Amino acid sequence: MRKFHPLAEKAKSQGKKIHHLNIGQPDLPTPETFYDAVKAFNESTLAYAASPGMPVLLDAIQSYYAKLGVTLDTNDILVTTGGSEALLFTCLSILDPYTEVIIPEPYYPNYTTFVHAAGGVIRALHTSPEEGYHYADRKRIEKLITKNTRAIMITNPGNPTGVVLSKDEMRMIADIAKENDLFLICDEVYREYCYDDQYGIPCMGKFDDIDDNLVIIDSVSKRFSSCGARVGCIITKNKELQQALLKFCQSRLSVATLDQIGAAALYTVDESYYAASKAEYRLRRDTVVEGLRKIPGVLVEKPMGAFYVMARLPVDNTDTFQKWLLEEFDDNGETVMFAPGAPFYETPGSGKNEVRIAYVRQQDELVRAIELLGKGIARYRTEKMGEE
Ligand SMILES: Cc1ncc(COP(=O)(O)O)c(C=O)c1O
Repeated sequence: MRKFHPLAEKAKSQGKKIHHLNIGQPDLPTPETFYDAVKAFNESTLAYAASPGMPVLLDAIQSYYAKLGVTLDTNDILVTTGGSEALLFTCLSILDPYTEVIIPEPYYPNYTTFVHAAGGVIRALHTSPEEGYHYADRKRIEKLITKNTRAIMITNPGNPTGVVLSKDEMRMIADIAKENDLFLICDEVYREYCYDDQYGIPCMGKFDDIDDNLVIIDSVSKRFSSCGARVGCIITKNKELQQALLKFCQSRLSVATLDQIGAAALYTVDESYYAASKAEYRLRRDTVVEGLRKIPGVLVEKPMGAFYVMARLPVDNTDTFQKWLLEEFDDNGETVMFAPGAPFYETPGSGKNEVRIAYVRQQDELVRAIELLGKGIARYRTEKMGEE
């Protein structure tokens, strides 16, 4: 995704306005509680925090999970530098070279980095836009299990697809992990953003019979629009895994003290905060999907969660199309950026007509950005694909 950065900078320097639908950085304001807590800090020395996390934050996370109906001991929680470090430490602790992890594709591209850093191999469960990227199929998952499989890794709700698992689907995947003695790494950083009441606030931790299998990846980044806080956590009740993870936590000493203090305060927000953020993203999702459906040839299913839409565009290659949008296209001096689909896939050749759109922009900007996308597609097809 980053390779377009220099092209975007060049377009900007030539006076083009770029509408960014390519970044997964929430734009809603961070709750004031974060800044208030940091401002109130008055220790004379800014010391290391405890390696597993500061008690104030561990208690806050424990209470948050209790409200979800998940009972945790504070020892079940290890605070990390974002969900990113949680994923890295989990992969390093679970995987040995050449062991395998099953991941439905398209998936969050950094998973590749974390799995490969641990020497692991990704066995992708391929899904397509025609099937709305739904992956919860017992036979298809089981078919990928080999003697080298260590884990199934899922994102629920999904980035980039917005797919949310039903309660039955969650149970089925939990059963597969249990029956095959696999770790189930469940990245739930978008948990609060599910746009249909049937899903509630999904959490695999609600199943109390998979304690030895389950690893939950969590973060304040998306929940509280606080990506810069760099605070996440790993949750597992598997004691052996806790020990391995703790070694990584100890070797990196601690997560930033002030960020943890601020993050603990985030968990004191009023319940209405969650409802308001969700309502805002739901409206934006509807705006984007409605706009995309008006563009001839676009294939899109309404996503049920997170803040992304994955869609197939009627162009030959979204990478080339994005480059063209930056270098050759504008409408009244404006153009648009999205994330081309291919990097979200492990399977070579997949996703080349697809894009991920992040709807972390105000409504009116989203309307304009999708309009630009539609105009861009029409012109690209005429100029570059020889359409009439
Ligand atoms: C699915 C998923 N997991 C984890 C992360 C990592 O987030 P952070 O390190 O900010 O917690 C992201 C960030 O975009 C994500 O989309």
